[in-house]
Amino acid sequence: MTDAPLPVVLVVAAALVDVDGRVLIAKRPEGKALAGLWEFPGGKVEPGERPEAALIRELNEELGIDVQEACLAPFVFASHAYESFHLLMPLYLCRRWSGLVVAREHAALAWVRPNALTDYPMPPADAPLVAWLRDLL
Ligand code: C5P
Repeated sequence: MTDAPLPVVLVVAAALVDVDGRVLIAKRPEGKALAGLWEFPGGKVEPGERPEAALIRELNEELGIDVQEACLAPFVFASHAYESFHLLMPLYLCRRWSGLVVAREHAALAWVRPNALTDYPMPPADAPLVAWLRDLL
């Protein structure tokens, strides 16, 4: 943690939950920051973009699925100071989508029971969200 002003970066992420109550996590690919760690899928909100529109766009680009905005509910925020920026990341719960989930940009995908999420190493921003998710599901 530092007192120096850091730019705030807004990233939106989704906890996709399937009919069996499993949650989708995605492994960051080689060549990206935090490669090999398992994250909740999502990405940066572009300037002027609505966060929900950004999440719908990212889920389509990364996973090939279509999500209706009415099916997205933010339920917890991650707030984490990385070395060069402060990440603010709402996690949206999403139980309905259309299309098959495929890894277009990630190294791997996993559907994981909430109690087993801690078995997967996550970025420091994502890891604290697991307890909230476990309580909710
Ligand atoms: O995915 P992308 O590299 O565009 O995300 C920007 C940064 O946001 C990452 O380098 C990482 O530090 C952070 N991030 C995160 N958890 C996520 C998504 C992104 O900590 N689920």
